[in-house]
Amino acid sequence: SGKGTIGKIISKYLKFQYLDTGLLYRAVAYKFLTSKSIISSDKAIFFAKNIELEDLDNPELRFERCGNLASKLAESDKVRQELILFQRNFAHKKVGAVLDGRDIGSVIFPDAKIKFFVTADLAVRAQRRKEQYKKMGQEYSLTDITNKLEQRDKRDKNRKVSPLICMPDAIVYDNSEVSFEKLNKEIIEIVEKKYKSLKL
Ligand code: C5P
Repeated sequence: SGKGTIGKIISKYLKFQYLDTGLLYRAVAYKFLTSKSIISSDKAIFFAKNIELEDLDNPELRFERCGNLASKLAESDKVRQELILFQRNFAHKKVGAVLDGRDIGSVIFPDAKIKFFVTADLAVRAQRRKEQYKKMGQEYSLTDITNKLEQRDKRDKNRKVSPLICMPDAIVYDNSEVSFEKLNKEIIEIVEKKYKSLKL
């Protein structure tokens, strides 16, 4: 939905470090896909426990197959528990941090000072995704991408542990029809206003 772009805008503006937490789930998936291990709970926990920051630099994590398997592995409470530690440690290393992901404002940092809930139309997301895949040398039909996104959203919203929800204290931002310049300007304005009101 563009949460990565927004996360990076904010982290650059506040000079905070940034973590795309989806990459953690993708990195666990990647370990399965490349080691050809049979998927089991124990193995998933083992991979999750051993994720390192450097693992997240791999561009192949963005591949469709990684995202799809990541979403299935993310249903496991035990995998999530392992990755919670990574996320909380990351944020506590320095003064402040921006994390993006489906459960950041609800589970990982329920007391976060500023929360965004980022949305975009399914059709817009699918088109953006298609272009991203194309840049990575992967071609998928728009219908295929739309269906996969829908399936993934459904799984993320309906899972028992840490489902994707909008917290009542989150700022809802729809970035379907916004140019990068407008997005950049609006996000900084919102963060500036909110940040000042916090009197940190
Ligand atoms: O955001 P991204 O598409 O990279 O995330 C991949 C998958 O990882 C999501 O579909 C979701 O199931 C899972 N995820 C999660 N909680 C997060 C980040 C990602 O469950 N904080």
